[in-house]
Amino acid sequence: MELSKDTIQKLIVRAAQAREHAYSPYSHYMVGAALLADANQIYTGCNVENAAYGPSNCAERTAFFKGISEGARNFQAIAIVGGKQGGAGDYAAPCGVCRQVMMEFCEPSAFVIIVAKSTEEYQTYTLEELTGINQ
Ligand code: THU
Repeated sequence: MELSKDTIQKLIVRAAQAREHAYSPYSHYMVGAALLADANQIYTGCNVENAAYGPSNCAERTAFFKGISEGARNFQAIAIVGGKQGGAGDYAAPCGVCRQVMMEFCEPSAFVIIVAKSTEEYQTYTLEELTGINQ
């Protein structure tokens, strides 16, 4: 599915809003994500850290698990906004565990990952491009 610039920007705004809820007292790195599902439903998420490193959850997985737990199964795109607390935004690419979760639920050649610094500064990749499959 072709994503319009309007849709991309809408997802980036929602991801930036979700980033404000990040719980990251250990890394001080704040991330927000906005996941587009069927019927134009958007699920947002932030990173949620823990004193024990293992239980920490990335923004992307928070958004996916929210969507999946509410019955969504078809996902088109995810926008990710990340950056150091109080610092400038940078392109936050999903980690290996998040990519694995995406692979479970998304079509790699169709699912779009938007990494954004702002609504004007962003890059888009398919999941396939990011994971390097078939390259
Ligand atoms: N993080 C995310 O939530 N998503 C990303 O794409 C990159 C990293 C989180 C994990 C951890 O809480 C913090 O950012 C620093 O890595």
